[in-house]
Amino acid sequence: MLKKEVLDRLNEQINLEHFSANLYLSMASWASAQGLAGTAKFLKEHSNEEMEHMHKLFDYVNETGAQAVVGALKTPPNEFKDIKDVITQTYKHEKFITSKINSLVDLTLTQKDFATFNFLQWYVAEQHEEEALFSGLIDKIEIIGTDGRGLHLIDKELGTTIAVG
Ligand SMILES: [Fe+2]
Ligand SMILES: [Fe+2]
Repeated sequence: MLKKEVLDRLNEQINLEHFSANLYLSMASWASAQGLAGTAKFLKEHSNEEMEHMHKLFDYVNETGAQAVVGALKTPPNEFKDIKDVITQTYKHEKFITSKINSLVDLTLTQKDFATFNFLQWYVAEQHEEEALFSGLIDKIEIIGTDGRGLHLIDKELGTTIAVG
């Protein structure tokens, strides 16, 4: 049986993962409109991963005898300066998600909810992977540059980059 404090935060996390999926989908649409097919593919795949993160939490809550709540989502941004802006924003967003996961893990410890603590370890590892992925991409963009040929190379690279988790 989930304690109310933990249940409320799990439901909030469901909403955050769902928003992440929409944010990356919106970015994929922007990339597609810019003719950046590789980037669009990468971001769309990443959006699907976030939907899986959402479903995993959703199933956990329902399996634990509580009711997962599907809440309202705010509209994600749909205008971006350039590809570097998009990847920088994903990195910033992932760091925010990591902070939310960490505070949720902290709550499970103070509430002595060890089953949820254990369940959330997957998300702790996942956030580490995602931060490493996006910060690595920013480094690459800085090295390659985004003028003409550089932009083409980055787009090609992103098209073959596998979304983690
Ligand atoms: Fe996620
Ligand atoms: Fe993520």
